[in-house]
Amino acid sequence: MTNDPNEHNDPNTHPHGHNIDHDEAHAEITKWERRWLSLSALISLTFVAFIAYSLVVEGAHIAQGTERATPAQLLSQDMFVQPSVTELSPGNFQVSVVAQAYSFNPPEIRLPEGATATFFLTSRDVLHGFQIENTNVNVELIPGEVSSFQYTFDRPGEYRVVCNEFCGVGHHNMMSRLVVVEADEYEEEVLLAQQRLEQAQASNEAWRVSGEAVYASNCTGCHQANGQGIAGAFPPLAEHAVNLLRADGGRDYLANLQLYGLQGPIEVLGATYNGNMPAWKQLSDDDIADVLNYVLHTWGNDELLPDDFELYSPDEIAALRDQDLDADAMYARRQQLGLD
Ligand code: CUA
Repeated sequence: MTNDPNEHNDPNTHPHGHNIDHDEAHAEITKWERRWLSLSALISLTFVAFIAYSLVVEGAHIAQGTERATPAQLLSQDMFVQPSVTELSPGNFQVSVVAQAYSFNPPEIRLPEGATATFFLTSRDVLHGFQIENTNVNVELIPGEVSSFQYTFDRPGEYRVVCNEFCGVGHHNMMSRLVVVEADEYEEEVLLAQQRLEQAQASNEAWRVSGEAVYASNCTGCHQANGQGIAGAFPPLAEHAVNLLRADGGRDYLANLQLYGLQGPIEVLGATYNGNMPAWKQLSDDDIADVLNYVLHTWGNDELLPDDFELYSPDEIAALRDQDLDADAMYARRQQLGLD
């Protein structure tokens, strides 16, 4: 031992010599190292145990990316062109869903009690979520990928479906419903819908049914089911749609709005809105004509229509396609409409 005063301050110093000091210090460190390693192993095992427990008790529904393609290729598939609920065999349903900012299409999924549904989901634009509340269904919808899973709905009731991935200004409004009804009731609903469509077709007003469906699928996320829009972002269509139609050049403008979108702050009925109307040219000529006619006949708009109003026709929409227009050009056109 030396008389170096520093050595007395060293907690690892041992009276029998430097070598032993080192060994003991090393043993001490090793002991703590082992403790930390055991602790982290224990934490990992706890997580694994919880996952194993939930797999056994709750069952697993892990969505699998079954396909990968460009979003355009995917969306041209039948099931995504017209997202819907299809009964494949008694009790077995196929549900296809397309998400886009800020809505799910279809906006409501109805299934009979006990139905086993195979879901196929994708996104048209950005990453969205698909969470069915009060179930363990929670998947990501990725542009260019199809998420698929199966689920059996044993309890009748209304389940809220929410987007749980932040996707933009309308994210908090992005939701839809899944309704499980009793089997008899479901059969009756299917029958009634069929009758309603046949009646509309018989009176040459199929556009009322189809336009309503197109609106519900694509427009409610922003303009809302009641046509009142969302303050500050998306303008109301009640009254306003007819004002656009009546403006000079308004008829074409209204149709072009569906094909090319609109970007920029606008004033509508005394309030300012600064959302973003996407272009909807992926919709068919029939769908666009139908939804325009539906909007112009709903929420009191039919009362305001000019007497000589004629329904939009699919041919009229087709003739407006392939113009050199975009959302900015549409904004410039809007300034020339001479709205009040
Ligand atoms: Cu879609 Cu959040």
